[in-house]
Amino acid sequence: MPASLHATLFIVCLGAWPAFADPAAHGALLAASCSSCHGLHAVNAGIPPLAGLKEAQIEQSLLAYRTGRRSSQIMQVVSTSLTPEEIDEVSRYLAAQRLEPTR
Ligand code: HEC
Repeated sequence: MPASLHATLFIVCLGAWPAFADPAAHGALLAASCSSCHGLHAVNAGIPPLAGLKEAQIEQSLLAYRTGRRSSQIMQVVSTSLTPEEIDEVSRYLAAQRLEPTR
């Protein structure tokens, strides 16, 4: 599947989600969409893993992609599709995940 189609499907899915009352559950749902590209617990070829990053690092990177300070076509699409609150929720959720050893 070409990356652009991938990103489009991602956004369609995001739009379809209802508003969640529980930010932690919402963070988990948002993070599930990241795992299609990012290995959350392992290293994916060519795509940096998110495991082990601190909340501030994830949030700053997403904000940098969002404003174009850091350039990546894919991550710009991903980050601009998230509201600042969602960036906060998904960063908090991802940073709270435990690093698991890879086999
Ligand atoms: C369609 C594939 C794709 C999806 C979906 C995706 N990413 Fe990414 N992400 C990438 C790629 C490719 C890069 C490397 C971009 C670059 O060169 O800076 C990246 C980079 C990042 C970085 C920087 C990592 C570092 O080590 O500096 C963060 C943080 C990040 N993504 C978070 C997320 C989050 C959070 C989500 C879900 C909301 C997400 N990404 C969804 C492909 C994706």
